[in-house]
Amino acid sequence: MADKVANNMTETAEQMNSKSSLGKLQGLIYGSDIKTPLLDGTLAPYINLDNAASTPPMLSVVNRIQEFLPFYSSVHRGTGFKSRLSTVAYDEAHEIVAEFVGADTETNTVIFGKNTTEAINKLSYRFPLGPGSVIITTQMEHHSNDLPWRNQAKVVHIKVTPEGRLDEADFDKQLAKHKGKIALVAVSAASNVTGFVQPIHRLARKTHEIGAKIFVDAAQFVAHRKLDMLPDDHPEHLDFVVLSAHKMYAPFGTGALIGPKAVFLESAPEYRGGGTVNIVTETDVYWGDTPDRDEAGSPNVVGAVALAAAIKTLTELGMDNVAAHEEELIVYSLKKMNTMSGVTIYGESDPTRANEKVGVIPFNLDNVPHFLTAAILGYEGGIGVRSGCFCAHPYVVHLLNIDDGAQQSWQERMLSGDKSDMPGMVRASFGCYNTTDDIDKLIDMLVRIQRKDYQGNYIQEIRSGEFVPKDYQEPHSSYFKFS
Ligand code: ALA
Repeated sequence: MADKVANNMTETAEQMNSKSSLGKLQGLIYGSDIKTPLLDGTLAPYINLDNAASTPPMLSVVNRIQEFLPFYSSVHRGTGFKSRLSTVAYDEAHEIVAEFVGADTETNTVIFGKNTTEAINKLSYRFPLGPGSVIITTQMEHHSNDLPWRNQAKVVHIKVTPEGRLDEADFDKQLAKHKGKIALVAVSAASNVTGFVQPIHRLARKTHEIGAKIFVDAAQFVAHRKLDMLPDDHPEHLDFVVLSAHKMYAPFGTGALIGPKAVFLESAPEYRGGGTVNIVTETDVYWGDTPDRDEAGSPNVVGAVALAAAIKTLTELGMDNVAAHEEELIVYSLKKMNTMSGVTIYGESDPTRANEKVGVIPFNLDNVPHFLTAAILGYEGGIGVRSGCFCAHPYVVHLLNIDDGAQQSWQERMLSGDKSDMPGMVRASFGCYNTTDDIDKLIDMLVRIQRKDYQGNYIQEIRSGEFVPKDYQEPHSSYFKFS
């Protein structure tokens, strides 16, 4: 098995000589050769354009887990060989994550949890905030980089421009206005809705100049472009970073929070229990070292191994190759979509500015509800996308330019259980394994939808807003069941 993985990787590195060969790599993704059923009863290759939500596992990750599983055992406690081996693998996974994001492990810790959302919540509890502290975030954040902060401090949302870019003049203005009170600037490295990449290092410099720290949510970035936290004493150093393995081709339930050891050693963890302590008496608790004190209970060792394996493969592929390939996909998509009439692309639609975003394209077809477009793509095109507001309601409402009155009225209908006219968009999002063929198939289906050249009689479910083809029985049990 190990040889098989090694051979795959040699082949992979060779094929990297041409940046455009990346998407053509055979066997990069586990399950990519599986066909899935369409509404007409035929089978088609599955085209996953929903990578911003979650990525499929890499074959190398599945192979590495299979190699590891026979040796899986408890970490940091057991004395047997399997426990010793599992402990080494789990601890090394922390080192591999640190190296991938350029963190200095003398001064920084890597804390594993289940995903980005959990990691941000953890930081919101562990980051020292005083009375009157202000946290700066932006209007483009997904809820996971907004709601945890609202719970802890006064939050100021930096404006975005009409097309959804950060309004850096407003950033500068708010930094000056709240200087002295700002504890943390919390920004995403790339938007999950428009894909816009933030000038994180420039923002870091400005943040440090006023004596605050910067936190970067790298969930939508780190599998698509090289992230470098830079040395701790660099003016553009990123103080805290989070990432999610399920968006990095390792969907086995792990995320990571990386930041200064000193911050996490300063106070007690918010989750308490086994593994977090040095000594417990009937009256006292002496907390353990980092990351242990922040990884309460038995950790997800398999998830950590998977994340480290995915990082190894991404590193072999080369993050610059990944970024170049995905930029080609954006350019190709935008050029094609720009030739279509009746399509609105949100964010950036100019292919010459493709390098300003990661591979996320939000759009709508005129007069076709986003839920319906997404349903037809799925049921009749075998194409997986997401539609709706992408857990970023304020940003999507802004991009759609919905006025307060309209917003109020759909909010009332949604709260009464009717999501049938919930605003939103369709989102196509790319991974390193997607190809221009995938995009051609997307465009073909969009043209068919515009021509009403589809087969299903779609019925909308009022409570979810989603469309399903009438009388269609999903053949799920032919593909997966528990017994
Ligand atoms: N943040 C994830 C998405 O954009 C869940 O779909």
